[in-house]
Amino acid sequence: MTVKEQVLLLLEKQRDRALSGEELAGQLSVTRAAVWKAIKSLQKDGYAIEAVNNKGYTLKKAPDILSAAYIEQNLKKAGFAIPVKTERIVSSTNTVLKQYVAQGQEADMILLAEEQSGGRGRRGRSFYSPEGTGLYMSLLLHPKMTPEEAAMLTTVAAAAEAAALERISGLDVKIKWVNDVWIRNKKISGILTEGSVSMEDGHLEYAIVGIGINIYEPEGGFPEEIKDVAGAVFTNDISRENLRNRIASEVLCQFLTYYRMLPQKAYLEEYRKRSIAIGKQVKIIQPEGAKIPETENGASREHALVIGIDDQCHLQVQYDDGTRESLSNGEISIKL
Ligand code: BTN
Repeated sequence: MTVKEQVLLLLEKQRDRALSGEELAGQLSVTRAAVWKAIKSLQKDGYAIEAVNNKGYTLKKAPDILSAAYIEQNLKKAGFAIPVKTERIVSSTNTVLKQYVAQGQEADMILLAEEQSGGRGRRGRSFYSPEGTGLYMSLLLHPKMTPEEAAMLTTVAAAAEAAALERISGLDVKIKWVNDVWIRNKKISGILTEGSVSMEDGHLEYAIVGIGINIYEPEGGFPEEIKDVAGAVFTNDISRENLRNRIASEVLCQFLTYYRMLPQKAYLEEYRKRSIAIGKQVKIIQPEGAKIPETENGASREHALVIGIDDQCHLQVQYDDGTRESLSNGEISIKL
C-alpha cells in the first residue's frame, strides 16, 4: 500500500478528530514530508482535507473515486484477506484478470476499474461501462468444485448483489433468471462468470466472476440500443460521497460470505425470494435461427409458466400441455 493510500485510510478511520502530521508520520513510520506530499496529492484528487494549525488534518469529504485500500480494509474487517486492485481504465476486468493468470497470478484477487473500453456481457454481448458511473469488478477465485458447479457462482453473485444493494439503497431489488439484477423494472446489473478447465483431468483451474452495476445514470443517458432495458440504481441527486467504494465493499463482503459457506446454500433463499420469474408466464428465447422446439405432445415450448427454481438454480417450467421441464441456462422474457 502506498503512503498516500495509508494516509487516506487513517484519515477515513478517524474522521471525527484531527490527526497531526507527526502522528500520521509516526503511525506509518515515514517522514512528515512524505505525509505532507500524500495530503497534497489527495487534495488534488478531490479529497476535502482540512488542515487546522496545531491540530492536524481532518477528512471532511471523500470524492466518489475507487479506492483499493478502502475496499481492502473493509473486506479485512469482515474477515476476508484478499488483495484488491483498482485501475483507471481497462478493456475488461475479466479479460485483465485472465491476463494476470497467464502472467503467473496464482492467488485469489479482486480487480475494479473506473471504466471499461471493452466490457463484455453474456452471449458475446458488450457491457456498457462508461467512466465513473458504474462499478465494474471481477473476482479471481480458485474454488474446489466442478466446472458445472461453478455456474452457481453467478447465482451467488446475483443474490449477494441484490441483498447488498437493497441494504444501501432501501430500494426493492429483484433478480431475473439467470443473473440480471433489476430495480424499478430496469436491468441495473449483469454478471459474467468465466473459468478455465484443465485439459488433463477436467478440474476447474480458476473462476472469474465479473459483476457490472450501473450505479448512476450516465451523462446523456444510456445508449439508444439499451435505453429501454437499462437502468441505474440511483436516478436522482443523492450524495455521491464515497458511494461506489461503500457499495463495492458491501457487495464483495456479501459475496465472500455466501462463498465461504457455499455448501449451506444460504444464497438460494435470497435468490428465490427476489425472483421476478416465479409464478409468471414467460417467453423462452431461442438462439438466433433456431426452430421453436415442441414437447412430446406437440405443444410449443415457446411460452411456459415458471413454477420454481431448484437447488441448482435451474428454472422449473410447465408448458401449456402440462409437460414440465428444468432449464439450466438460456434466456427468458417476462411481461411485467
Ligand atoms: C451481462 O449482463 O450479460 C453480463 C455483464 C457483465 C459485466 C461485468 S463488468 C465487470 C466484468 N468485466 C466484463 O467485461 N464483464 C463483467
